[in-house]
Amino acid sequence: MSIVITGATGQLGRKVVEQLLARGVEPSTITAGGRNPQALQELAATGVRTAQIDYSDPDTLEAAFSGAEQVLLISGSEVGQRVPQHKAVIDAARAVSASVVYTSAPQASTSALILAPEHKATEEMLAASGLSHTVLRNSWYTENYDDAIRQAAAHGSILTSTGSGKVASATRTDYAEAAAAVLISANYAGQVLELAGDEPWDFDELAATVSDVAGRGVTVNQVTTAEHVEALKGFGLEEATAEFVAALDANIAEGLLAESDGTLSRIIGRPTTPLNQYVTQLLAT
Ligand SMILES: NC(=O)c1ccc[n+]([C@@H]2O[C@H](COP(=O)([O-])OP(=O)(O)OC[C@H]3O[C@@H](n4cnc5c(N)ncnc54)[C@H](OP(=O)(O)O)[C@@H]3O)[C@@H](O)[C@H]2O)c1
Repeated sequence: MSIVITGATGQLGRKVVEQLLARGVEPSTITAGGRNPQALQELAATGVRTAQIDYSDPDTLEAAFSGAEQVLLISGSEVGQRVPQHKAVIDAARAVSASVVYTSAPQASTSALILAPEHKATEEMLAASGLSHTVLRNSWYTENYDDAIRQAAAHGSILTSTGSGKVASATRTDYAEAAAAVLISANYAGQVLELAGDEPWDFDELAATVSDVAGRGVTVNQVTTAEHVEALKGFGLEEATAEFVAALDANIAEGLLAESDGTLSRIIGRPTTPLNQYVTQLLAT
């Protein structure tokens, strides 16, 4: 077995490497890739091989994928550039006939989620590649709310335009365990897996959880999308970023991140990390 993890210098990829090692995968069969030299050095210290991987530089992909049997393609973080970047990764995997596992988004092929189109296009490129592949349609990270949770604990309020929309979040560790389990098993080839937390929550529940853990009242300040954009700009966000963040909340309000069918907990063999446990750990640090 020889596995290349792209985006291994990032928060999710690093955890996938840890989970593979924890499952007894021989370190020398893992190649951890990314652009950040310091993060690559830290990964090398765990005994894995490392490689410079830049999705926009096909030479780095060709060099890193030499001899690879599997590639975990962690979706890039440069929104708007991901389709050509992911195409380059799939082309390089095809050159060595490696199978591909890809981190996508919930119901990417049909969802109105503003982030879905690049994931849908990538899934279509994978299907057209003829490569054996598995799609991990990861839902939201609970970590996306770290700042909101800390601010709620400190100031007693949470600003949102999600209405009563639910978020089926799970932690990066939950998703990383699933990715590792899928990479070391032959059982998931050809599958599209919708991965989400077991217990979708809304912002009233988030506020109640922070309130319980922090021991103080927390109110939810529900605003419209337009008011949210203005408030975010007032906090110093650029207009485009503020609109993006508020559009994601609007997607949540529409229920686009609410689905959970238990696939993630089945794959990792335990319940996903409960919100209360996550908030307790976060506020203790
Ligand atoms: N489900 C969610 O809630 C959620 C939230 C945020 C993001 N995401 C998606 O999930 C991915 C992984 O999440 P994360 O938390 O690990 O993000 P992260 O910590 O920002 O890590 C992103 C990783 O992608 C790599 N990368 C980005 N652009 C690249 C490029 N052009 N060439 C090569 N590598 C590139 C980065 O490498 P270097 O830093 O070394 O350049 C880094 O290793 C993100 O990239 C994004 O697509 C999902």
